[in-house]
Amino acid sequence: MRQRLVMGNWKMHGSLPENKALLDKVAAAAGGLNRAIAAVCVPYPYLAQAQSALAGSKAAWGGQNVSHYPKGAFTGEVSAGMLREFGCRYAIVGHSERRQLFGEDDATIALKAGAVLAEGMVPVICVGETLAERERGITEEVVGRQLNVVADRIGPEGLKASVLAYEPVWAIGTGKTATPDQAQAVHAYVRGVLAGRDKGIAATMPILYGGSVKAANAAELFGMQDVDGGLVGGASLVAEEFLAICRAAEG
Ligand code: PGA
Repeated sequence: MRQRLVMGNWKMHGSLPENKALLDKVAAAAGGLNRAIAAVCVPYPYLAQAQSALAGSKAAWGGQNVSHYPKGAFTGEVSAGMLREFGCRYAIVGHSERRQLFGEDDATIALKAGAVLAEGMVPVICVGETLAERERGITEEVVGRQLNVVADRIGPEGLKASVLAYEPVWAIGTGKTATPDQAQAVHAYVRGVLAGRDKGIAATMPILYGGSVKAANAAELFGMQDVDGGLVGGASLVAEEFLAICRAAEG
């Protein structure tokens, strides 16, 4: 059985008191999960708070981004080694907001995945097409390219230690979720691309779906054969919603 993972991506939200209430609830509820892992990716300044609230619980935490450089004169950047020092298990790389708003390209994202792996953490590698790309019928081409650039760079050993997330850009923060069938079709395609490289990795790779996941649609999405959990933005900021999504991943 593949690992199930529900990862909250807080984006640039939160405050110390709000986070405390949310993290305490996640820590308490994570113990009740068996098949699924609950994780939260918080803004950098809150990593210490996440670490102290979640250490000793079954919940994990991580960064939303990472530098592809190990250290040096890179103002504003945070290295994978720094994330590791704060107990991160995960770092998201290649989120569509990084690609679209901050100009990150496939090659840089591949380097970031490598930097995360080099510190013994798990990169959560995001792929996904824009609405225009879907309408042009090139979803598979786009997602396949995004995946292959990273896979070529990190190799089978790196892939084995990674998690993938399919996030159609048109479904992120729009309330417009991909239907379970739409998600399944791309997840199956992604697993097929992996199988072309290594059948064992394809069989065990957790592939998360992201894009307007909420308590009301999680069970249906996670019920699809190749959907192994979710990368959850807005709904991860509300404890009851997020924890209901985590429970839906137990099924
Ligand atoms: P959303 O964001 O759940 O708010 O659509 C998902 C993501 O960007 O990871």
